[in-house]
Amino acid sequence: MQDLNGKTAFISGGGSGIGLAAARALAAEGARLILADIDQGRAEAAAREIAALGADALPLQLDVAEEGEWAKARAAADAFGEVRILFSNAGVGGGAGRFEVYDPEVWRWNYAVNAHAHLYACRTFLGEMKASGEPAHLVITASMVGIVPPPISIAYISSKFATMGIALGLRNELRDTGVGVSVLCPGMSATRIVRTTRELRPGAQEQGAAAETSAAMDQVLAGGMSPDAIGRRLVKAIRADEFYIFTHPEWRRLAEAQVAEMLAAFGESADPGYAGDDIDSLLAANNARRMNASVAR
Ligand SMILES: NC(=O)c1ccc[n+]([C@@H]2O[C@H](COP(=O)([O-])OP(=O)(O)OC[C@H]3O[C@@H](n4cnc5c(N)ncnc54)[C@H](O)[C@@H]3O)[C@@H](O)[C@H]2O)c1
Repeated sequence: MQDLNGKTAFISGGGSGIGLAAARALAAEGARLILADIDQGRAEAAAREIAALGADALPLQLDVAEEGEWAKARAAADAFGEVRILFSNAGVGGGAGRFEVYDPEVWRWNYAVNAHAHLYACRTFLGEMKASGEPAHLVITASMVGIVPPPISIAYISSKFATMGIALGLRNELRDTGVGVSVLCPGMSATRIVRTTRELRPGAQEQGAAAETSAAMDQVLAGGMSPDAIGRRLVKAIRADEFYIFTHPEWRRLAEAQVAEMLAAFGESADPGYAGDDIDSLLAANNARRMNASVAR
């Protein structure tokens, strides 16, 4: 999607961090922004900031995890402009804590915000993006930990793996449409995600060692990459119709090690008499997808 000028972008989690940074970068290209966030104050402050940059911006209070609330997003777009860029980005951290004592309520919340909400976002906007016949683009925020997980919350990691699956599946499903798709996989970025998580987390707050681990993560993220650099990179990826948006190349070593381990584990067939799955057909489908992705949208 080359021309972003005058196009309406819907950003979830647009009140802070990577979502707000993407809004700044898209505003610089002339896009119009709907900034959805569970925190009304943050959404409004973000919209004021974007308006001060000279772009049209509409704040929207929305809990992405509540399917019924997406009617508000639909109504906002009906009033403001048809969505051509959908950035499904809101997410929360998983916090710390061993799996056998992990709070099921926090587990369900992580999946609802980090994974299920992508379905609600697509049910709200993807149909019209496809039907418009105009170039459009969907970006979903996963994480580097959705590819190569460090020893952090399994709720966070696995909900981001689910997000990778959603993005890969959508890439297949959208390949013959005018809608490009990208999956954003940042490493560490200096945002308020640990504090946001603490504020929104259902159930009891973390205690003891778990609370200390989260506080330490907040410190580590404070030294992370500027969200604005990620926002600018995202705009380039929309233009170039790139699927994987890797912002932190230093993670490549981990990805290589993980893939190497996986490849080394392929051995003999469990059934030497079996002819094998039809990999040529699967490869042909993959090649068609790649060729399609290289056609400018
Ligand atoms: N910061 C990092 O290091 C990092 C790394 C990889 C991926 N990510 C991902 O980036 C995305 C954005 O996070 P961020 O780091 O900018 O954090 P952030 O906390 O600064 O911004 C996220 C925004 O999302 C909003 N939000 C949270 N739950 C919501 C809900 N249910 N409905 C609507 N809005 C909600 C918050 O109020 C907040 O304003 C998340 O998906 C996160 O998992 C972040």
